[in-house]
Amino acid sequence: MSLRIAVVNGDGIGPEVIPEAQKILEHFLPDADFYEVELGLAKWERSGSACSPDDIRELKGADAILFGAVTTPPDPNYRSVLLQIRHELDLYANLRPIRPLRSSGQGSPADMMIVRENTEGLYSGIEEIGEERSTTLRVVTKAGSKRIAEKACSLILERNSKSPLVIGYKGNVLKSDLLFRDTCSEVAASFGIQTKAVFIDALCLDVLQHPKNYDVIVTTNMFGDILSDVCGYLTGGLGMLPSANIGDTHAFFEPVHGSAPDIAGKGIANPVAAIRSAAMMLEYFGMKREACLVEESIADLINSGVCTPDLGGCESTSSFGNRLLAAVCKK
Ligand code: NAI
Ligand code: MG
Repeated sequence: MSLRIAVVNGDGIGPEVIPEAQKILEHFLPDADFYEVELGLAKWERSGSACSPDDIRELKGADAILFGAVTTPPDPNYRSVLLQIRHELDLYANLRPIRPLRSSGQGSPADMMIVRENTEGLYSGIEEIGEERSTTLRVVTKAGSKRIAEKACSLILERNSKSPLVIGYKGNVLKSDLLFRDTCSEVAASFGIQTKAVFIDALCLDVLQHPKNYDVIVTTNMFGDILSDVCGYLTGGLGMLPSANIGDTHAFFEPVHGSAPDIAGKGIANPVAAIRSAAMMLEYFGMKREACLVEESIADLINSGVCTPDLGGCESTSSFGNRLLAAVCKK
């Protein structure tokens, strides 16, 4: 049976970068059935719903989902589409590889994986909004911490890493993080893996100063969100960072960046983060060789100066995508 791939363009630059990623998938998966699911702010403005139960059913029917980005207005009545999807599909592991593709001339580049818990923490969605006092409940559970730690440990084994599992936390202030840290340590011990717990604020600086000291970092939901944007600095910016949201039964691939309203409609968004997310999907389907080929082709183009303006080049979103597809076809 052919693979079913749901495609969500979303808002802002989503509809600009996703077609470039879809082209690459169509090249490697010519028999796959791609179907579009409309979600996001534009849909909400038109229909009053950003993501309906029918949309969730459509997403659940896919073997994998390719997602652009959605705009989330800071409106207390608007439910975040991403939080909804991550909860409904139980996409508990958000994997964010940090690997620069631009050659720096300084030997081997950084190569780390941020493993972000994706269903609880400060993004629990449990909130009370008032005029004088608003609260958001930060939830850390043993079960949630255990399954994300298991994912991180299996990645350490897969990557053949000799480094300890780094736990990003803030247990001196947030006592809920002690449960996270201790559960991660217990799980790691059962895998025979050492751990190093580091306060998240210090970690944000140290990953930039000593990126090569890091391999797999596991952390809670919001800290992982912030840490991965920080690490965008190592890769050339948000236009370069892919991610995978993986659960036990569903998989969802999206660039780390948002809908970038400041550049939407100009045709200059960097499609690399979206294309690398598609490459992560190929790897998820067992096509590691093809995924590497995409990454190598992107690196070749960028290192020969073919890139969008955020990296100092003059390609448009679609001209970069076309040149990449041509390069991939030639390999
Ligand atoms: P953002 O990631 O959209 O943009 C931050 C900065 O990075 C902007 O200056 C933007 O132009 C630049 N940028 C982002 N992607 C780029 C690309 N592919 N090429 C070149 N430059 C790029 O984050 P921001 O501005 O905080 O949020 C904008 C909207 O996106 C908000 O409504 C937010 O809620 C939403 N958002 C959605 C996400 C998602 O759908 N996964 C994730 C993050 C934010
Ligand atoms: Mg973010």
